[in-house]
Amino acid sequence: MKNHLFLIGFMGAGKTSVGLTLAAELDLPYVDLDQKIVALAGKSIPEIFHEEGEAVFRDLESSTLFDLSGSPPSVVATGGGIIGRSENRAFMSDHGTVFYLFAQWETLKQRIGATAGRPLAQADHDWRATRELLSARSQWYEQADYIIVTDHRTVADIVTEIRSHAKL
Ligand code: S3P
Repeated sequence: MKNHLFLIGFMGAGKTSVGLTLAAELDLPYVDLDQKIVALAGKSIPEIFHEEGEAVFRDLESSTLFDLSGSPPSVVATGGGIIGRSENRAFMSDHGTVFYLFAQWETLKQRIGATAGRPLAQADHDWRATRELLSARSQWYEQADYIIVTDHRTVADIVTEIRSHAKL
């Protein structure tokens, strides 16, 4: 059943802040896949990456996503790499409407730089590698049902646009 609203996009796209406001306005549960993975693993995302490797994180990410099957409609904030696996992309398009929160690289870089806890984009990270990751992923993000431009816009404005498209 297509009943979830999935927010996808690169790190720093605003999935969490948009997701929380969208869920509150629609009176729907808010599901943050990264938070669920942390609760399940009992450790932070950087710890999972460093101690167990990215593949283990990606398996947890997929199983957490697939657990949404049959659950009541919700707003789902995904991690930036969710689109890397074709089975994740297929699950999202089969079970809901997918919104790509797009932002220009400069906007993303500024937002990523302001926060910690992202193993694929640390403060001392090579920004070129992060930018290349974005380029490699863009083709998958763009397969979303809707592309929502977020640069220079308020969360309220973005949420209004998503609500105008949302099918529940
Ligand atoms: C990742 C993005 C993170 C988190 C993990 C991996 C990625 O989520 O899932 O660090 O591969 O882009 P956010 O997009 O919420 O930062």
